[in-house]
Amino acid sequence: MYNLKFTVDKEKCIKCGLCQKDCISKIIQTDTDGYPCVKDETFCISCQHCLAVCPKGAISVFGKNPDNSDEINNTISPEQLENLIKARRSYRIFKQENIDSETMNKLKNILNWAPTGVNFRDLRFTIVENKDTMVEIKETLYKKLKFLFKFIPLKKSLQPFKQAILDGNDVIFRNAPHMIVVSTNKKAPCKEIDPIIALSYFELYAQSLGIGTLWCGFAYKTLPFSKEVMKKLEIPKTHKLSYVMLFGKPDIKYQRAIQPDNHKITVL
Ligand SMILES: Cc1cc2nc3c(=O)[nH]c(=O)nc-3n(C[C@H](O)[C@H](O)[C@H](O)COP(=O)(O)O)c2cc1C
Repeated sequence: MYNLKFTVDKEKCIKCGLCQKDCISKIIQTDTDGYPCVKDETFCISCQHCLAVCPKGAISVFGKNPDNSDEINNTISPEQLENLIKARRSYRIFKQENIDSETMNKLKNILNWAPTGVNFRDLRFTIVENKDTMVEIKETLYKKLKFLFKFIPLKKSLQPFKQAILDGNDVIFRNAPHMIVVSTNKKAPCKEIDPIIALSYFELYAQSLGIGTLWCGFAYKTLPFSKEVMKKLEIPKTHKLSYVMLFGKPDIKYQRAIQPDNHKITVL
């Protein structure tokens, strides 16, 4: 049961009905005087659209005052956003230094803004903030992988990576100073997609701050081989590892966009 605390400031409410119209769960009704009200909050998904849509800032929910909401400022132009998307690259060359705490906090905060299916909002993030911790994690994992290589046959295509690891090359973590690991509640209705959206938001925002990122399928696949590393990541039993992204200050600069071939689009 939620504690919606749906409150209408009758001095401000103009009875426009927008909150009612936009409510996904259709739980907003009107009282005998025509003001919005909620009688049964059972199906509320806590999206706060009622608070966000009200043109007069008349609606509070969950004890949140609309006056405390960030202003919506659409100053970024489509061209700027397009440029950011086109300029985004996968970074594999990083400065060997920690990101400052102000930037790190900005990155952490943006994670709260990614949507989740049915507004389930139970992602967990493990962020390696200190490059020395990254080194510890890497050393533990590589030690385990080198041990396993003796027993587990690898596909031919993975042989060069095995050799690189045996030669001491960091082909998994690319010497990144930081890593973000997202895990998802096993019961989340959209558990496959929610964590990927969160990392996509994180990636673009990071790149707007001059921070390089790398989606890391290798880390995602190999981290579970080490129980010791998994324990360090503190993923709760209710959650499953969903994906991994490396990040840090880039030590390389891309001078121009690539020229990708087009995906096939079926137009109906
Ligand atoms: C889901 C996903 C997993 C990836 N895993 C790795 C990885 O493990 N190691 C790596 O070096 N690059 C990895 N990449 C980066 C891709 O190789 C890269 O996106 C692709 O080559 C295109 O380059 P760009 O991102 O700079 O456009 C991954 C990318 C995605 C989207």
